[in-house]
Amino acid sequence: MCKRTIVTMPGDGIGKVVLEETLRVLEAAGFKAEYVHADIGWKFWCNEGNPLPQRTLDILEKHKIALFGAITSKPKSEAAKELVPELADKGFVYFSPIVGLRQHFQLDICQRPCKTLKGNPLNFIRRGKGGTIEEPEVDVVVFRQNTEGLYGGVEWTDPPDQVYDALMTHPKFAKNFGWSPKDEVAISTRIFTKKYSERIIRSAFEYAKKFGYKKVTLCEKPNVIRETSGMMLAICRDMEKEYEGIWFNYTNIDAQMMWLTKNPETYGVIIAGNMFGDIVSDGFAGLIGGLGFACSANIGEEVAIFEPTHGSAPKYENLEPSIVNPIAMMMSACMMLDHIDEKTIATKIRNAVAKVVEEGKIRAYDMMKLSGCQEVLDQGAASTKEMTDAVIAAL
Ligand code: NAI
Ligand code: MG
Repeated sequence: MCKRTIVTMPGDGIGKVVLEETLRVLEAAGFKAEYVHADIGWKFWCNEGNPLPQRTLDILEKHKIALFGAITSKPKSEAAKELVPELADKGFVYFSPIVGLRQHFQLDICQRPCKTLKGNPLNFIRRGKGGTIEEPEVDVVVFRQNTEGLYGGVEWTDPPDQVYDALMTHPKFAKNFGWSPKDEVAISTRIFTKKYSERIIRSAFEYAKKFGYKKVTLCEKPNVIRETSGMMLAICRDMEKEYEGIWFNYTNIDAQMMWLTKNPETYGVIIAGNMFGDIVSDGFAGLIGGLGFACSANIGEEVAIFEPTHGSAPKYENLEPSIVNPIAMMMSACMMLDHIDEKTIATKIRNAVAKVVEEGKIRAYDMMKLSGCQEVLDQGAASTKEMTDAVIAAL
Protein backbone atom coordinates (compact mmCIF):
# COMPACT_ATOMS: atom_id res chain seq x y z
CA MET A 1 0.00 0.00 0.00
CA CYS A 2 1.42 3.39 -0.94
CA LYS A 3 1.39 6.18 1.60
CA ARG A 4 -1.47 8.64 1.12
CA THR A 5 -1.53 12.28 2.07
CA ILE A 6 -4.60 13.24 4.06
CA VAL A 7 -5.45 16.75 5.16
CA THR A 8 -6.69 16.96 8.76
CA MET A 9 -8.90 19.86 9.87
CA PRO A 10 -9.75 19.35 13.56
CA GLY A 11 -11.56 22.70 13.83
CA ASP A 12 -13.11 23.56 17.17
CA GLY A 13 -14.35 21.97 20.39
CA ILE A 14 -14.91 18.24 20.25
CA GLY A 15 -13.88 18.21 16.57
CA LYS A 16 -10.30 18.21 17.86
CA VAL A 17 -10.95 15.30 20.20
CA VAL A 18 -12.81 12.96 17.86
CA LEU A 19 -10.38 13.54 15.00
CA GLU A 20 -7.35 12.76 17.13
CA GLU A 21 -8.95 9.54 18.40
CA THR A 22 -9.92 8.52 14.88
CA LEU A 23 -6.35 8.93 13.69
CA ARG A 24 -5.31 6.43 16.36
CA VAL A 25 -7.81 3.92 14.96
CA LEU A 26 -6.61 4.48 11.37
CA GLU A 27 -3.04 3.90 12.45
CA ALA A 28 -3.92 0.76 14.41
CA ALA A 29 -5.89 -0.59 11.45
CA GLY A 30 -2.79 -0.35 9.30
CA PHE A 31 -3.64 2.70 7.24
CA LYS A 32 -0.41 4.35 6.15
CA ALA A 33 -0.78 8.06 5.64
CA GLU A 34 0.97 11.33 5.97
CA TYR A 35 -1.27 13.89 7.64
CA VAL A 36 -1.12 17.56 6.78
CA HIS A 37 -2.82 19.87 9.27
CA ALA A 38 -5.01 22.70 8.02
CA ASP A 39 -6.46 25.61 10.03
CA ILE A 40 -10.20 26.18 10.17
CA GLY A 41 -12.68 27.53 12.68
CA TRP A 42 -13.38 30.06 15.36
CA LYS A 43 -9.84 30.91 16.46
CA PHE A 44 -8.94 31.93 12.92
CA TRP A 45 -12.05 34.06 12.63
CA CYS A 46 -11.22 35.88 15.89
CA ASN A 47 -7.52 36.38 15.14
CA GLU A 48 -7.51 36.79 11.36
CA GLY A 49 -11.07 37.72 10.43
CA ASN A 50 -11.36 34.55 8.34
CA PRO A 51 -12.46 31.12 9.65
CA LEU A 52 -11.32 29.49 6.40
CA PRO A 53 -7.89 30.96 5.59
CA GLN A 54 -6.55 30.90 2.03
CA ARG A 55 -3.65 28.66 3.16
CA THR A 56 -6.23 25.99 4.07
CA LEU A 57 -7.84 26.21 0.64
CA ASP A 58 -4.36 25.85 -0.92
CA ILE A 59 -3.59 22.72 1.13
CA LEU A 60 -6.93 21.15 0.15
CA GLU A 61 -6.43 22.08 -3.48
CA LYS A 62 -3.10 20.29 -3.38
CA HIS A 63 -3.99 17.11 -1.48
CA LYS A 64 -7.72 16.70 -2.31
CA ILE A 65 -8.79 14.41 0.54
CA ALA A 66 -9.58 15.64 4.04
CA LEU A 67 -10.88 14.56 7.42
CA PHE A 68 -12.75 17.31 9.20
CA GLY A 69 -13.83 17.46 12.85
CA ALA A 70 -16.32 20.26 13.48
CA ILE A 71 -16.42 24.02 13.82
CA THR A 72 -18.14 26.54 16.03
CA SER A 73 -20.33 29.01 14.20
CA LYS A 74 -22.15 32.05 15.58
CA PRO A 75 -24.54 34.63 14.13
CA LYS A 76 -22.87 37.55 12.32
CA SER A 77 -23.40 40.17 15.04
CA GLU A 78 -22.11 37.93 17.84
CA ALA A 79 -19.16 36.88 15.71
CA ALA A 80 -18.17 40.49 15.08
CA LYS A 81 -17.89 41.12 18.83
CA GLU A 82 -15.31 38.37 19.24
CA LEU A 83 -12.83 39.69 16.70
CA VAL A 84 -9.50 40.81 18.19
CA PRO A 85 -9.59 44.59 18.78
CA GLU A 86 -7.21 45.28 15.85
CA LEU A 87 -9.73 43.77 13.43
CA ALA A 88 -12.92 45.24 14.89
CA ASP A 89 -14.84 47.57 12.58
CA LYS A 90 -12.58 46.74 9.64
CA GLY A 91 -15.47 45.30 7.61
CA PHE A 92 -14.89 41.60 8.34
CA VAL A 93 -18.12 39.62 8.00
CA TYR A 94 -18.44 36.12 9.45
CA PHE A 95 -19.43 33.27 7.12
CA SER A 96 -19.76 29.55 7.78
CA PRO A 97 -16.50 27.87 6.74
CA ILE A 98 -18.44 24.66 5.99
CA VAL A 99 -20.66 26.36 3.47
CA GLY A 100 -17.51 28.14 2.28
CA LEU A 101 -15.75 24.81 1.66
CA ARG A 102 -18.75 23.31 -0.14
CA GLN A 103 -19.05 26.29 -2.43
CA HIS A 104 -15.34 26.85 -3.07
CA PHE A 105 -14.66 23.26 -4.08
CA GLN A 106 -18.13 22.55 -5.47
CA LEU A 107 -18.59 19.66 -3.04
CA ASP A 108 -21.99 19.03 -4.53
CA ILE A 109 -22.58 15.44 -3.46
CA CYS A 110 -23.29 14.85 0.20
CA GLN A 111 -23.64 11.24 1.34
CA ARG A 112 -25.14 10.44 4.72
CA PRO A 113 -25.41 6.75 5.49
CA CYS A 114 -27.62 5.69 8.41
CA LYS A 115 -27.13 2.05 9.26
CA THR A 116 -28.31 0.27 12.40
CA LEU A 117 -25.57 -1.23 14.53
CA LYS A 118 -26.76 -4.28 16.38
CA GLY A 119 -26.98 -3.82 20.13
CA ASN A 120 -27.00 -0.04 20.09
CA PRO A 121 -29.35 0.96 22.92
CA LEU A 122 -30.26 4.08 20.94
CA ASN A 123 -31.75 2.13 18.04
CA PHE A 124 -35.33 2.98 17.15
CA ILE A 125 -37.89 0.42 18.32
CA ARG A 126 -41.60 0.18 17.53
CA ARG A 127 -44.56 -1.89 18.57
CA GLY A 128 -45.45 -4.79 16.29
CA LYS A 129 -48.40 -7.15 16.03
CA GLY A 130 -49.81 -8.35 19.35
CA GLY A 131 -47.85 -5.75 21.29
CA THR A 132 -44.45 -7.21 20.37
CA ILE A 133 -41.43 -4.95 20.28
CA GLU A 134 -39.63 -4.73 16.96
CA GLU A 135 -36.27 -3.20 16.18
CA PRO A 136 -36.28 -2.46 12.45
CA GLU A 137 -32.91 -2.63 10.74
CA VAL A 138 -32.24 0.66 9.00
CA ASP A 139 -29.82 0.75 6.07
CA VAL A 140 -30.32 4.04 4.26
CA VAL A 141 -27.89 6.26 2.39
CA VAL A 142 -29.14 9.80 1.81
CA PHE A 143 -27.72 11.61 -1.23
CA ARG A 144 -28.19 15.29 -0.52
CA GLN A 145 -27.46 17.95 -3.14
CA ASN A 146 -25.00 20.07 -1.24
CA THR A 147 -24.54 23.38 -3.05
CA GLU A 148 -27.83 24.61 -4.50
CA GLY A 149 -31.45 25.12 -3.50
CA LEU A 150 -32.57 27.04 -0.45
CA TYR A 151 -29.09 27.02 1.07
CA GLY A 152 -27.61 28.56 -2.09
CA GLY A 153 -27.50 31.98 -0.48
CA VAL A 154 -29.36 33.94 -3.20
CA GLU A 155 -31.67 36.02 -1.03
CA TRP A 156 -32.83 39.53 -0.30
CA THR A 157 -34.90 41.57 2.08
CA ASP A 158 -36.19 44.61 0.17
CA PRO A 159 -34.98 43.21 -3.16
CA PRO A 160 -33.38 45.43 -5.82
CA ASP A 161 -35.81 46.97 -8.32
CA GLN A 162 -34.83 44.68 -11.22
CA VAL A 163 -35.52 41.61 -9.10
CA TYR A 164 -38.77 42.99 -7.77
CA ASP A 165 -39.96 44.09 -11.22
CA ALA A 166 -39.11 40.71 -12.71
CA LEU A 167 -41.04 38.93 -9.94
CA MET A 168 -44.04 41.20 -10.52
CA THR A 169 -44.29 39.75 -14.02
CA HIS A 170 -45.27 36.44 -12.38
CA PRO A 171 -49.03 36.46 -11.83
CA LYS A 172 -48.76 34.60 -8.54
CA PHE A 173 -46.22 37.03 -7.14
CA ALA A 174 -48.26 40.05 -8.17
CA LYS A 175 -51.45 38.60 -6.70
CA ASN A 176 -50.13 37.05 -3.50
CA PHE A 177 -47.22 39.30 -2.57
CA GLY A 178 -47.60 42.48 -4.62
CA TRP A 179 -49.73 44.10 -1.90
CA SER A 180 -46.82 44.23 0.59
CA PRO A 181 -44.48 47.22 0.77
CA LYS A 182 -41.33 46.18 -1.12
CA ASP A 183 -39.06 46.81 1.85
CA GLU A 184 -41.10 44.33 3.88
CA VAL A 185 -40.63 41.48 1.43
CA ALA A 186 -37.98 38.83 2.20
CA ILE A 187 -37.01 36.41 -0.55
CA SER A 188 -34.91 33.24 -0.30
CA THR A 189 -34.60 31.50 -3.64
CA ARG A 190 -34.58 27.77 -4.42
CA ILE A 191 -32.50 27.43 -7.55
CA PHE A 192 -31.67 24.00 -9.02
CA THR A 193 -29.56 23.44 -12.14
CA LYS A 194 -29.94 20.48 -14.43
CA LYS A 195 -26.21 19.77 -14.26
CA TYR A 196 -26.03 19.40 -10.49
CA SER A 197 -29.41 17.71 -10.23
CA GLU A 198 -28.20 15.13 -12.71
CA ARG A 199 -24.96 14.68 -10.81
CA ILE A 200 -26.62 13.93 -7.48
CA ILE A 201 -29.16 11.60 -9.09
CA ARG A 202 -26.54 9.80 -11.16
CA SER A 203 -24.28 9.30 -8.16
CA ALA A 204 -27.19 7.88 -6.15
CA PHE A 205 -28.17 5.37 -8.82
CA GLU A 206 -24.52 4.39 -9.33
CA TYR A 207 -24.12 3.87 -5.59
CA ALA A 208 -27.25 1.71 -5.46
CA LYS A 209 -25.90 -0.40 -8.32
CA LYS A 210 -22.43 -0.71 -6.83
CA PHE A 211 -23.56 -1.61 -3.32
CA GLY A 212 -26.60 -3.70 -4.22
CA TYR A 213 -29.43 -1.45 -3.02
CA LYS A 214 -32.68 -2.43 -4.76
CA LYS A 215 -34.58 0.76 -4.16
CA VAL A 216 -33.93 4.44 -4.93
CA THR A 217 -36.35 7.06 -3.61
CA LEU A 218 -36.51 10.73 -4.53
CA CYS A 219 -37.69 12.68 -1.50
CA GLU A 220 -38.92 16.11 -2.62
CA LYS A 221 -42.32 17.75 -3.13
CA PRO A 222 -42.97 17.76 -6.89
CA ASN A 223 -46.73 18.20 -6.58
CA VAL A 224 -46.25 21.63 -4.97
CA ILE A 225 -42.73 22.78 -5.86
CA ARG A 226 -43.25 22.05 -9.51
CA GLU A 227 -40.20 23.56 -11.16
CA THR A 228 -37.32 22.44 -8.94
CA SER A 229 -38.66 19.23 -7.40
CA GLY A 230 -40.37 18.61 -10.73
CA MET A 231 -37.07 18.80 -12.59
CA MET A 232 -35.51 16.31 -10.15
CA LEU A 233 -38.38 13.90 -10.70
CA ALA A 234 -38.19 14.18 -14.49
CA ILE A 235 -34.45 13.44 -14.42
CA CYS A 236 -35.00 10.44 -12.12
CA ARG A 237 -37.73 9.07 -14.39
CA ASP A 238 -35.35 9.30 -17.30
CA MET A 239 -32.37 7.82 -15.53
CA GLU A 240 -34.17 4.92 -13.85
CA LYS A 241 -34.49 3.29 -17.30
CA GLU A 242 -30.71 2.77 -17.30
CA TYR A 243 -30.77 0.83 -14.04
CA GLU A 244 -32.51 -2.47 -14.45
CA GLY A 245 -33.30 -4.23 -11.20
CA ILE A 246 -33.44 -1.01 -9.17
CA TRP A 247 -36.92 0.11 -8.22
CA PHE A 248 -37.44 3.89 -8.34
CA ASN A 249 -40.08 5.61 -6.25
CA TYR A 250 -40.69 9.16 -5.01
CA THR A 251 -42.08 10.54 -1.77
CA ASN A 252 -42.96 13.98 -0.44
CA ILE A 253 -40.69 15.26 2.32
CA ASP A 254 -43.52 15.80 4.81
CA ALA A 255 -45.00 12.34 4.34
CA GLN A 256 -41.52 10.84 4.32
CA MET A 257 -40.80 12.25 7.78
CA MET A 258 -43.95 10.53 9.01
CA TRP A 259 -43.22 7.24 7.30
CA LEU A 260 -39.63 7.03 8.34
CA THR A 261 -40.56 5.95 11.83
CA LYS A 262 -43.31 3.67 10.56
CA ASN A 263 -41.28 1.59 8.14
CA PRO A 264 -37.68 2.80 8.05
CA GLU A 265 -36.38 -0.58 6.89
CA THR A 266 -38.06 -0.26 3.49
CA TYR A 267 -35.76 2.47 2.18
CA GLY A 268 -32.37 2.12 0.56
CA VAL A 269 -30.88 5.04 -1.30
CA ILE A 270 -32.66 8.39 -0.92
CA ILE A 271 -32.07 11.43 -3.12
CA ALA A 272 -33.03 14.95 -2.07
CA GLY A 273 -32.23 18.60 -2.66
CA ASN A 274 -30.14 20.53 -0.17
CA MET A 275 -32.65 21.41 2.55
CA PHE A 276 -34.86 18.33 2.30
CA GLY A 277 -31.71 16.20 2.28
CA ASP A 278 -30.57 17.92 5.46
CA ILE A 279 -33.93 17.24 7.10
CA VAL A 280 -34.46 13.65 5.99
CA SER A 281 -30.88 12.63 6.84
CA ASP A 282 -31.24 13.99 10.38
CA GLY A 283 -34.52 12.09 10.65
CA PHE A 284 -32.93 8.79 9.71
CA ALA A 285 -29.85 9.49 11.85
CA GLY A 286 -32.18 9.75 14.85
CA LEU A 287 -33.22 6.14 14.29
CA ILE A 288 -29.69 4.76 14.44
CA GLY A 289 -28.32 6.61 17.45
CA GLY A 290 -28.18 10.28 16.51
CA LEU A 291 -25.21 12.60 16.50
CA GLY A 292 -22.73 10.17 18.07
CA PHE A 293 -23.21 7.88 15.05
CA ALA A 294 -24.09 10.08 12.05
CA CYS A 295 -21.27 10.29 9.51
CA SER A 296 -21.05 12.08 6.18
CA ALA A 297 -19.04 12.78 3.05
CA ASN A 298 -18.93 15.91 0.90
CA ILE A 299 -17.68 14.94 -2.53
CA GLY A 300 -16.84 17.18 -5.47
CA GLU A 301 -15.20 16.47 -8.79
CA GLU A 302 -11.74 16.88 -7.26
CA VAL A 303 -11.87 17.41 -3.52
CA ALA A 304 -13.65 15.26 -0.94
CA ILE A 305 -14.13 16.06 2.75
CA PHE A 306 -15.32 13.56 5.36
CA GLU A 307 -16.91 14.71 8.62
CA PRO A 308 -19.30 13.67 11.37
CA THR A 309 -22.58 15.59 11.13
CA HIS A 310 -22.37 16.80 14.73
CA GLY A 311 -20.98 20.18 15.65
CA SER A 312 -18.29 21.30 18.09
CA ALA A 313 -20.48 20.73 21.21
CA PRO A 314 -18.80 23.60 23.10
CA LYS A 315 -20.20 22.53 26.48
CA TYR A 316 -18.03 19.39 26.34
CA GLU A 317 -15.00 21.12 24.93
CA ASN A 318 -13.11 21.45 28.18
CA LEU A 319 -13.99 18.16 29.87
CA GLU A 320 -10.87 16.22 30.73
CA PRO A 321 -11.06 13.35 29.94
CA SER A 322 -13.49 13.93 27.12
CA ILE A 323 -16.77 12.00 27.18
CA VAL A 324 -18.08 12.42 23.62
CA ASN A 325 -18.73 9.52 21.28
CA PRO A 326 -16.05 9.25 18.57
CA ILE A 327 -17.98 6.72 16.43
CA ALA A 328 -19.46 9.28 13.99
CA MET A 329 -15.97 10.54 13.18
CA MET A 330 -14.60 6.98 12.85
CA MET A 331 -17.42 6.06 10.47
CA SER A 332 -16.70 9.22 8.46
CA ALA A 333 -13.10 8.08 8.16
CA CYS A 334 -14.38 4.73 6.84
CA MET A 335 -16.25 6.62 4.14
CA MET A 336 -12.95 8.27 3.24
CA LEU A 337 -11.29 4.86 3.04
CA ASP A 338 -14.06 3.63 0.70
CA HIS A 339 -13.54 6.72 -1.44
CA ILE A 340 -9.82 6.13 -1.87
CA ASP A 341 -10.28 2.40 -2.44
CA GLU A 342 -9.00 1.20 0.91
CA LYS A 343 -12.05 -0.98 1.40
CA THR A 344 -10.34 -3.70 3.39
CA ILE A 345 -9.25 -1.30 6.10
CA ALA A 346 -12.67 0.38 6.06
CA THR A 347 -14.39 -2.95 6.61
CA LYS A 348 -11.96 -3.84 9.37
CA ILE A 349 -12.75 -0.62 11.25
CA ARG A 350 -16.51 -0.90 10.68
CA ASN A 351 -16.46 -4.47 12.01
CA ALA A 352 -14.50 -3.40 15.07
CA VAL A 353 -16.94 -0.58 15.83
CA ALA A 354 -19.88 -2.96 15.33
CA LYS A 355 -18.30 -5.45 17.71
CA VAL A 356 -17.78 -2.87 20.47
CA VAL A 357 -21.36 -1.64 20.12
CA GLU A 358 -22.81 -5.14 20.07
CA GLU A 359 -20.82 -6.34 23.08
CA GLY A 360 -22.03 -3.29 24.98
CA LYS A 361 -19.34 -3.45 27.66
CA ILE A 362 -17.87 -0.08 26.73
CA ARG A 363 -20.39 2.65 26.05
CA ALA A 364 -20.14 6.42 25.71
CA TYR A 365 -22.58 8.47 27.79
CA ASP A 366 -25.01 9.05 24.89
CA MET A 367 -25.43 5.29 24.47
CA MET A 368 -26.36 5.06 28.14
CA LYS A 369 -28.97 7.81 27.75
CA LEU A 370 -27.22 9.93 30.33
CA SER A 371 -27.07 13.67 30.02
CA GLY A 372 -23.52 14.72 29.37
CA CYS A 373 -21.29 15.91 32.21
CA GLN A 374 -18.05 14.75 33.81
CA GLU A 375 -19.93 12.62 36.37
CA VAL A 376 -21.08 10.18 33.67
CA LEU A 377 -17.67 8.55 34.01
CA ASP A 378 -18.57 7.55 37.58
CA GLN A 379 -21.88 6.20 36.32
CA GLY A 380 -20.21 3.67 34.07
CA ALA A 381 -19.85 5.63 30.84
CA ALA A 382 -16.63 5.25 28.90
CA SER A 383 -14.48 8.25 28.04
CA THR A 384 -13.78 9.08 24.38
CA LYS A 385 -10.35 7.55 24.78
CA GLU A 386 -11.71 4.35 26.30
CA MET A 387 -14.17 4.02 23.41
CA THR A 388 -11.26 4.35 21.00
CA ASP A 389 -9.16 1.86 22.92
CA ALA A 390 -12.03 -0.63 22.74
CA VAL A 391 -12.31 -0.20 18.97
CA ILE A 392 -8.57 -0.64 18.59
CA ALA A 393 -8.66 -3.78 20.72
CA ALA A 394 -11.48 -5.14 18.55
CA LEU A 395 -9.60 -4.57 15.28
P1 NAI B 1 -23.66 19.92 18.35
O1 NAI B 1 -23.77 18.84 17.35
O2 NAI B 1 -22.32 20.50 18.57
O3 NAI B 1 -24.18 19.40 19.75
C1 NAI B 1 -25.52 19.13 20.05
C2 NAI B 1 -25.60 18.11 21.17
O4 NAI B 1 -25.46 16.82 20.60
C3 NAI B 1 -24.49 18.21 22.18
O5 NAI B 1 -24.81 19.02 23.24
C4 NAI B 1 -24.38 16.77 22.64
O6 NAI B 1 -25.37 16.51 23.59
C5 NAI B 1 -24.69 15.99 21.43
N1 NAI B 1 -23.49 15.55 20.70
C6 NAI B 1 -22.92 16.11 19.60
N2 NAI B 1 -21.89 15.39 19.20
C7 NAI B 1 -21.78 14.36 20.05
C8 NAI B 1 -20.90 13.24 20.16
N3 NAI B 1 -19.90 13.06 19.29
N4 NAI B 1 -21.08 12.38 21.17
C9 NAI B 1 -22.06 12.54 22.04
N5 NAI B 1 -22.94 13.54 22.00
C10 NAI B 1 -22.80 14.45 21.01
O7 NAI B 1 -24.69 21.06 17.91
P2 NAI B 1 -24.99 22.49 18.56
O8 NAI B 1 -24.89 22.43 20.04
O9 NAI B 1 -26.25 22.93 17.94
O10 NAI B 1 -23.88 23.45 18.00
C11 NAI B 1 -22.64 23.70 18.65
C12 NAI B 1 -21.73 24.43 17.69
O11 NAI B 1 -21.40 23.57 16.60
C13 NAI B 1 -22.39 25.67 17.07
O12 NAI B 1 -21.43 26.69 17.02
C14 NAI B 1 -22.78 25.21 15.70
O13 NAI B 1 -22.82 26.26 14.78
C15 NAI B 1 -21.69 24.23 15.38
N6 NAI B 1 -22.06 23.19 14.40
C16 NAI B 1 -21.09 22.77 13.55
C17 NAI B 1 -21.32 21.74 12.69
C18 NAI B 1 -20.17 21.26 11.86
O14 NAI B 1 -19.04 21.59 12.12
N7 NAI B 1 -20.42 20.43 10.87
C19 NAI B 1 -22.61 21.08 12.59
C20 NAI B 1 -23.56 21.52 13.59
C21 NAI B 1 -23.28 22.55 14.44
MG1 MG C 1 -28.24 19.21 9.69
